[in-house]
Amino acid sequence: MDLADIGVTGLATMGRNLARNLARHGYAVAVHNRTYVRTQQLVKEFGGEGTFVPSEDLAAFVASLKRPRRAVIMVKAGAGTDAVIEQLAELMEPGDMIVDGGNAHFEDTRRREAALRERGLHFVGTGISGGEEGALNGPSIMPGGSKESWQALGPILQDIAATVDGVPCCVHVGPDGAGHFVKMVHNGIEYSDMQLIAESYDLLRQALGATPAELASVFREWNQGELDSYLIEITAEVLDQVDAETGKPFVDVVVDQAEQKGTGRWTVQSALDLGVPVTGIAEAVFARALSGHPEQRAAAAPLRGPALSGTGGRELVEQVRQALYASKIVAYAQGFDQMAAASREYGWDLDLGAMATIWRGGCIIRAKFLDRIRAAYDANPALPTLLADPTFAGALDAAQEAWRRVVTTAVEIGVPTPGFSSALAYYDGLRRDRLPAALVQGLRDFFGAHTYHRVDKEGVFHTDWSGDRTERPA
Ligand code: 6PG
Repeated sequence: MDLADIGVTGLATMGRNLARNLARHGYAVAVHNRTYVRTQQLVKEFGGEGTFVPSEDLAAFVASLKRPRRAVIMVKAGAGTDAVIEQLAELMEPGDMIVDGGNAHFEDTRRREAALRERGLHFVGTGISGGEEGALNGPSIMPGGSKESWQALGPILQDIAATVDGVPCCVHVGPDGAGHFVKMVHNGIEYSDMQLIAESYDLLRQALGATPAELASVFREWNQGELDSYLIEITAEVLDQVDAETGKPFVDVVVDQAEQKGTGRWTVQSALDLGVPVTGIAEAVFARALSGHPEQRAAAAPLRGPALSGTGGRELVEQVRQALYASKIVAYAQGFDQMAAASREYGWDLDLGAMATIWRGGCIIRAKFLDRIRAAYDANPALPTLLADPTFAGALDAAQEAWRRVVTTAVEIGVPTPGFSSALAYYDGLRRDRLPAALVQGLRDFFGAHTYHRVDKEGVFHTDWSGDRTERPA
């Protein structure tokens, strides 16, 4: 029997489509699933697309792989992953590699990678973004793991990844959990992007009394300019959709409680540990949480607020477009800050320009905009914040009047825009020469003797607040 070049275990939609993508690119693909019937279905339905080597159990699956063996796990992240890893590790030999293509938490990946390295195996936590369509036709692929595993896996993954201007949307992100970390931040940015889009829709609908179909046209028009992106494109599709059963706009028959599998939440938890203010991502996660408390919302419904009436003219549409672009710059700047902080913390040496490059296609946040981020890091790899890049600084300055009008309008008519307003607050905070944090330091020293620094001399100080209020070096 000819041995397979690479294998996929876990043939739900993502796994099945990844196996098909590999086969379509000429690789002999070993395939396995806990229930064999799904493996048989894959070969029956798609066997004509390339070479599949089906196996009923993991032992046969591993035995059907060329050395060094390359097995991709496509099972739901969680305890199940550990079980499959252990079974594979038992069957594999030093030099073989296990790729985890699920949305695993990067700390789990770091733990697994270290444990398997002890056994001479390579563990490659890999972010795969683009959903089912991406898995089949070209995702953005973010592999971590050892340099050796990249030698063996990189060419295959770059073959099946999306490409933009002939450049694959796949690079070796960095060691151990770096790949899953970058995928996690991708998802955090995705949450923020989606929240800003939702706020744009809500504000224009309330302020102008626009219909979902009218707003679909607005987003479609925006997609022709600097907001050109997958999420803006599909927003127009979703807003245009009419519910077949009721004839109402689809968006009006959907329960307004946003769910989350957890990657956005993980991003914020990690940012809190790293000390990176990803305020846009945090507001997006909390906005989903707020929407998911119907009992509180029912209790709060009688609270008074301004009439949700039309106030803006058509100029509000352009103002919201500008505010959306400015807030998007802030959201991405925060996400890239987090990757830079993690790179320092974990010693990953992440190439931020490369991350922007592989997000230009295949992934959910794919957008023309990422070309500008790549250019910013090409011009200055040590850029302390994207907001300081001349192109983005100029765009933010050009948009800020509209941005402030949008936040003001939202406040005046009582439409919540935590994404827009937190992004503006971040912009105003980051550029300020003196922040009220000085008073916070004074208060901390007053009640907790937590000390402070002075602007005019080196050292750490404490004031004797309960005594004669003299200051002394701490
Ligand atoms: C992707 C998507 C994918 C998944 C989200 C859903 O990059 O292909 O982000 O990972 O659809 O994780 O996330 P939530 O359920 O948390 O919104």
